[in-house]
Amino acid sequence: MTHNIALIGGDGIGPDVTAEAVKVVRAAGVDIDTTDFDLGGQRFLRDGEVLSDGTLDELRAFDCILLGAVGTPEVPPGVIERGLLLKMRFELDLYINQRPFAGTAPGGDTPHEFVVIRENTEGMYAGEGGSLRTGTPHEVATQGSVNTRMGVERCIRYAFELAADRERKHLTLVHKTNVLTFSGDLWERTFNEVAAEYPQVDTAYNHVDAACIYFVQDPHRYDVIVTDNLFGDILTDLGGAVSGGIGLASSANLNPARTGPSMFEPVHGSAPDITGQNKANPTAAILSAALMLDFLDEGAAADRIRAACAEPVTGSTTDVGDTIATRVRN
Ligand code: IPM
Ligand code: MN
Repeated sequence: MTHNIALIGGDGIGPDVTAEAVKVVRAAGVDIDTTDFDLGGQRFLRDGEVLSDGTLDELRAFDCILLGAVGTPEVPPGVIERGLLLKMRFELDLYINQRPFAGTAPGGDTPHEFVVIRENTEGMYAGEGGSLRTGTPHEVATQGSVNTRMGVERCIRYAFELAADRERKHLTLVHKTNVLTFSGDLWERTFNEVAAEYPQVDTAYNHVDAACIYFVQDPHRYDVIVTDNLFGDILTDLGGAVSGGIGLASSANLNPARTGPSMFEPVHGSAPDITGQNKANPTAAILSAALMLDFLDEGAAADRIRAACAEPVTGSTTDVGDTIATRVRN
């Protein structure tokens, strides 16, 4: 079966790492038909388009979207992030951001696998707030966190389903209920209510600041973590840093209801400082493509790709892609 994939290489190193991901998917024997979409900071500078509603509608027709990295120093911060990445997450209802890790505790040798489920459409990212009297001594700025019962519950339910399918069957809620009492109460009550439907899953709760210590010192306590949008953003950069670096961190932006395409992207950015030098590590993009194959029901190929990435590879972007592609073929 042919899968129709929209490719958004993006800016900087994005197109290069995406090309290696496509190479490895094909080496794994998965039949994909790709269509390039020229989007990102460079496109915006050329003709002002970030992501029009027309382009968004074109993307809806695909099975999945594979994205490299977007953003360029000449475009003010926020334009591409909000207008492209967040617009896709919100409009395509990609309400789960799934990020797998392999953390090693200090002195430990075997990396420990765990996964963060980040709510991807609400919280601080909803853009609630505003400013008044800007630039005067009396200026005011507010930024609110939006949490709906529906949004929180569907995310928590997805995390319980995932935990129930895993060997260890353990789920940790991460929040800051001691200070964020309103949203924390909604998250905690919803978590406890859904937990009653999954007696086979063991549960725990950590405040987000404590979770930062455990990510570094004791990642073994985690199996699946569920958390809100902003905590998940920050924690997953930390997760990348303690799991071999951001060059290995992959992510899936999922619409589990499958009412539209899901989107897969490495956690890292466009790295303009090393653009065009063939030295970006494509592994995060390749592992993101493996997450895409999981979602396309090509789990065996995805497992082969992950196995091929497990042994260290060094070299240029294309060398790493070639080596992993060769391992996958054999
Ligand atoms: C991520 C990124 C994005 C986020 C930015 C680029 C908007 O940091 O995917 O984690 O904050 O979600
Ligand atoms: Mn981030």
